[in-house]
Amino acid sequence: MRQRAAVSIESEVKRRRTFAIISHPDAGKTTLTEKLLLFAGAIQIAGSVKARKASRHATSDWMEIEKQRGISVASSVMQMEYRDQVINLLDTPGHQDFSEDTYRVLTAVDAALMVIDAANGVEPQTLRLIAVCRARNTPIITFVNKMDREVRDPLELMDEIESTLGIPCVPFAWPVGQGKLFHGIFDIRKNHMRVFTPGADRRREDDEVISGDNRDLLRSRFGAEFQQAEQEIDLVTTAAPSFDADEFLAGKQTPMFFGSAVNNFGVQEVLDALVDVAPHPGPRKAIEREVKPTEGKFSGVVFKIQANMDPSHRDRIAFVRVLSGRFEHGMKFKVLRTGKDFRPTSVVTFLSQRRDRVDEAYAGDIIGLTTHGGLQLGDSLSEGESLQFTGLPFFAPELFAAVELKDPMRSKQLQKGLMELGQEGAIQVFKPLLGSEMLLGAIGQLQFEVVQARLKGEYGVEVRLMPSRYSCARWVTSKNANDLRRFMDANVGRMVTDAAETHAFLATSRFDLDVMQKRWETIEFHPMREHA
Ligand code: G4P
Repeated sequence: MRQRAAVSIESEVKRRRTFAIISHPDAGKTTLTEKLLLFAGAIQIAGSVKARKASRHATSDWMEIEKQRGISVASSVMQMEYRDQVINLLDTPGHQDFSEDTYRVLTAVDAALMVIDAANGVEPQTLRLIAVCRARNTPIITFVNKMDREVRDPLELMDEIESTLGIPCVPFAWPVGQGKLFHGIFDIRKNHMRVFTPGADRRREDDEVISGDNRDLLRSRFGAEFQQAEQEIDLVTTAAPSFDADEFLAGKQTPMFFGSAVNNFGVQEVLDALVDVAPHPGPRKAIEREVKPTEGKFSGVVFKIQANMDPSHRDRIAFVRVLSGRFEHGMKFKVLRTGKDFRPTSVVTFLSQRRDRVDEAYAGDIIGLTTHGGLQLGDSLSEGESLQFTGLPFFAPELFAAVELKDPMRSKQLQKGLMELGQEGAIQVFKPLLGSEMLLGAIGQLQFEVVQARLKGEYGVEVRLMPSRYSCARWVTSKNANDLRRFMDANVGRMVTDAAETHAFLATSRFDLDVMQKRWETIEFHPMREHA
């Protein structure tokens, strides 16, 4: 019986592909996501992802900010089945003010799909995301979008991507023409050309495919554009290395695709690549030991907490990446941080458009635990064993604001609101060791506005945010407990604790911080905290 269960966990793990889709805003992430769902048969009509975005806006006050600014604040999770594989797709906010959220989402995936706007190339927000993927050796698949527009030369784009990623691109396909003269995509590996016809309702079955052996036909029909593509393909196939699965999995090569998401063109090739080359979940390091995804016992980590979008339900959803074993309906978990058992009110999975009750889940899957508290970002969950998974980053904020309550009678609600928003990672909340004035820390200005709006909308608390004299925070540790105590005593007016009760030191400037670092040699000042 046990053996059968083990075999089935193994085959389920092998079926999983979990990836994030990353891009600079406007490159076409939402459009591509929707088309991937469409091609996988998870949704029937185009427009539903955008529609969902729109209806979400209408339901909650703070999402109004998103609507006004036309940016995507919340990440979401979608699961679909394609070619008998289970694909978990994690969306990431494109706006840089929410980059911390994106970094945390990237810790929950095994691969990334990078969307590049062919007219703009690699843009600033993509650069940061690439840096995070590179630091974790996350394999990246590249999709160059908007080939139906007047865009940049594909060789130049390939060069730019290679130099920013610092790894070679391996084109799986190459564009024939662009803009008004975009004729289609030549599939280098399958040696055929898929002819482009515009239209969002088109399915791949409708496409005309011409064999690459039919060169004369291709040359006469697609003229100068085909001849140029031929030369470029010759060049890239000679110069670029051939695809090496191990190199890709080690984050040392990126397969490159071209297409036009809005026209459903080049999308299925990407979906197929996700199944064919993207990795299934691998082992994860916990402080205690390495955990294999196929182990019989469940383990997982909370990488995101989000307030329910529906204001009539005050619960929150903790997004858990399953790391090993099998989740089963009704299961209770041990939360390592508290040592307590935790039984969520309900557990949901994210089947494309709907939230469904989840009956079982395996490594790679994302489950949403409905909670009224009790879980924090970075929490490790298990069936009993002490396993602390690391790697969920919290970055030292660069912007600070002091919170001033408009109505002093609502101080309790403020504490509750700030505690919950801090645990969610929407903002970092610091409590001074001396005094009672709470301090907020953010990476981007917009985080303050979101928190202010949510405090009002969800907790009925109106606050003014006042400028703070601090501009830099560092989490402090020391191998010498006495030195740490002396440091904290000497600087008690500048010491705070964060949502996870970890001690941090506040500095007014980099110079101030440098001075302190020199003065206190045995104290370590950390710009990033890794786990709760
Ligand atoms: P994002 O999530 O990365 O921010 O981008 P999103 O998909 O919302 O796309 C940004 C804009 O680019 C949208 O236009 C979208 O229609 C357009 N787009 C996406 N893929 C392609 C493509 O292959 N070719 C062309 N020409 N355009 C593309 P919009 O005008 O902002 O919105 P909409 O009114 O068209 O929905």
